[in-house]
Amino acid sequence: MDKGIFITFEGGEGCGKSSHIKGLAQYFEGLGRECVITREPGGTALSEKIRDILLHAKEGSDMSPKTEILLFAAARAQHVEQLIKPALAQGKVVISDRFYDSTTAYQGVARKLGPYAVKWLNSFAAEGATPDLTILLDLSPREGLARASTRDGEASDRMGSQALEFYEAVRGAFLQIAKDDPERVKVVDSSGTKEETFEKIISAVEEKLDV
Ligand SMILES: Nc1ncnc2c1ncn2[C@@H]1O[C@H](COP(=O)(O)OP(=O)(O)OP(=O)(O)O)[C@@H](O)[C@H]1O
Ligand SMILES: [Mg+2]
Repeated sequence: MDKGIFITFEGGEGCGKSSHIKGLAQYFEGLGRECVITREPGGTALSEKIRDILLHAKEGSDMSPKTEILLFAAARAQHVEQLIKPALAQGKVVISDRFYDSTTAYQGVARKLGPYAVKWLNSFAAEGATPDLTILLDLSPREGLARASTRDGEASDRMGSQALEFYEAVRGAFLQIAKDDPERVKVVDSSGTKEETFEKIISAVEEKLDV
């Protein structure tokens, strides 16, 4: 049986995660691999309920940063246990739209909860599920938000309605994560065309993984 492969996509709003995940799944399917596309927060029925609280519920409008990080961690624990680990054990390729690096960047740095709570909660929730490869799509927040608003019109969720400085902090935090863990996290410039970016993603995948 093939060995499971766990790939995560990270980056700010509108940087192209969802678009390129679909393309990457097709690439793996072309190689005869079974793929599971999933997302955070979410991926299981319970985690999707938590997603709704985090992103859409009106009661979340005054959510404290501590509540926020705990809900993200709760959603992740269920996702890892119920979906990610079983799929990897069955030899599948699991591609997740965001994973724990988003918690480090958004809650740890941009919400200023600090590295200690984040490190502990990330490892508690992920329980050894470490991505084999993380693609960090790097794009200026201004460009990312412009792409997302062309896509959505005016609608945006709670995490997508912060000030520009918040997303600048998120971008800086993601780049720092890549600097700290260059073996796992590959930075891909997402400012070019979709085709250019996708080619870079495939190169990173082929370089890092035995596919
Ligand atoms: N290289 C590109 N050039 C121009 N537009 C792009 C490029 N890549 C993606 N897009 C478009 O930008 C928009 C945002 O892309 P996408 O939805 O994949 O981003 P995302 O990272 O998943 O965003 P979110 O964080 O909101 O989920 C989409 O309309 C997509 O078609
Ligand atoms: Mg998306």
